[in-house]
Amino acid sequence: MAPHPPRVVPPDRPLHRLAFVARFVRNPLSVVPRAAYEEDFTAVPNAPIYWVTGPQFIRAVLLEERDKFAKLAQIRLLGPLLGKGILTSEGADWKWQRQASAPMFRPQELVHFVPGFVQATRRLMARWTDNAVRPIERDMTQVTFDVISATLLPSADAGMPAAIEDSTASFQRAGAWGQLFAWVHAPRWLPQPGRRRSAAAVAALRGAVHRIVAERRAAGEAKDDLLARLMRARDPDTGQQMNDEQLVDNLLTFYLAGHETTAKALTWTLYLLARYPHWARRLEAEVGAVTGGAEVSAAHAERLPLVQQVLKESMRLYPPVPIMTRQAVADTVLDGHAIRAGASLVMPIYVIHRHARRWEEPDAFLPERFAPEREDAIPRYQYMPFGAGPRICIGMAFAMIEATVILATLLQRVRFAPAGRDPEPVARVTLIPRGGMPLAVRFRP
Ligand code: HEM
Repeated sequence: MAPHPPRVVPPDRPLHRLAFVARFVRNPLSVVPRAAYEEDFTAVPNAPIYWVTGPQFIRAVLLEERDKFAKLAQIRLLGPLLGKGILTSEGADWKWQRQASAPMFRPQELVHFVPGFVQATRRLMARWTDNAVRPIERDMTQVTFDVISATLLPSADAGMPAAIEDSTASFQRAGAWGQLFAWVHAPRWLPQPGRRRSAAAVAALRGAVHRIVAERRAAGEAKDDLLARLMRARDPDTGQQMNDEQLVDNLLTFYLAGHETTAKALTWTLYLLARYPHWARRLEAEVGAVTGGAEVSAAHAERLPLVQQVLKESMRLYPPVPIMTRQAVADTVLDGHAIRAGASLVMPIYVIHRHARRWEEPDAFLPERFAPEREDAIPRYQYMPFGAGPRICIGMAFAMIEATVILATLLQRVRFAPAGRDPEPVARVTLIPRGGMPLAVRFRP
């Protein structure tokens, strides 16, 4: 077995145009040159793209000088699916949607969701048989979707998970082209591979969510979930409430952003535990000591430091959102570098998390890095699986509790073992294992 878990091998030198495109379409992370893992700011020759991997630059783009940078590529890529919801809007339009959603994510609200996390995990395990090889990436997508519909959002009809899977699959397939086109502002008339197919999947999915909104309006129930809060919210400037289109935008955003990412965090974590069984045994011991075999509670989840360390190290090596981008809205200067309007500033979280000058043994799985006394020494913009600045992930605390509880509940009953080749990490919208993540599941005696 190789000493370190699989990584993307960077090209030694920047790639020329054809090689860049060919590799990008296979895996966008594979075009990031070695220099970006060593320097702070690296230009792509002959293209309006910069790799931004140094903390001072990231801080400027996401915080101090954020008004000079916009989410143009992300909006172009995800706008057809997510409209002008919280992830894909800006300025005042974004702000009130964020404020309307925030109360659902307060810590005192999150503890109520914990039994829902446990039950979803138990439903999943009930479908497993001993010694079977499971498609773990699909199982984790299912359990996190189950969670989101049991906690934050109205439960969807039976066809919804399939519609989501279908549309995300075609989005992921068309994704690399879409991303490249968006980064370089390719004209919209240029035929983009996969676009038509993903348009059909998007229409089906939006239709399903429209029905959910219509049902809620017709029922007029006084539920207190995220949909109810979004329906009640008013834009402080205009006093207006969200129309159906805006509700669909936000529901879809939360269905998607709220489960695909956590699913990937769990998928890569289970892979690492299968690969490093001594860590799995340590976590089992911790969970056993804290819960005494009882159902995992919110209070237990706060007392599982090793589980937290493994999750954080897993999201360092395999950040579920591997790449973030912003575009310069006007000609500007960033720490002495002239940047033209429209240029893409690409923050490859995957690369930032493996920067050669900032991490000791960057490719090694060493959860101890996140032991409480050592974690404080990690600078803010060097570790950022949830992004940073005002647009930081709204679901961060939700995701951490959810992943902790799901993982602890699994570890109480099941052990995982590798069941295939080493997975290759590939950047789509999320970081996926090429060809899936087959793992053998064994129930503990
Ligand atoms: C391990 C799990 C997760 C990871 C790694 C993650 C990562 C991220 C990142 C990196 C961003 C920033 C994107 C940018 O600025 O370009 C983001 C934003 C967002 N995330 Fe998450 N996320 C996770 C879980 C969740 C969950 C559970 C929810 C909801 C229940 C959620 C909802 C959102 C929303 C709505 C935004 C947009 C926030 C805004 O623009 O104000 N995420 N997430």
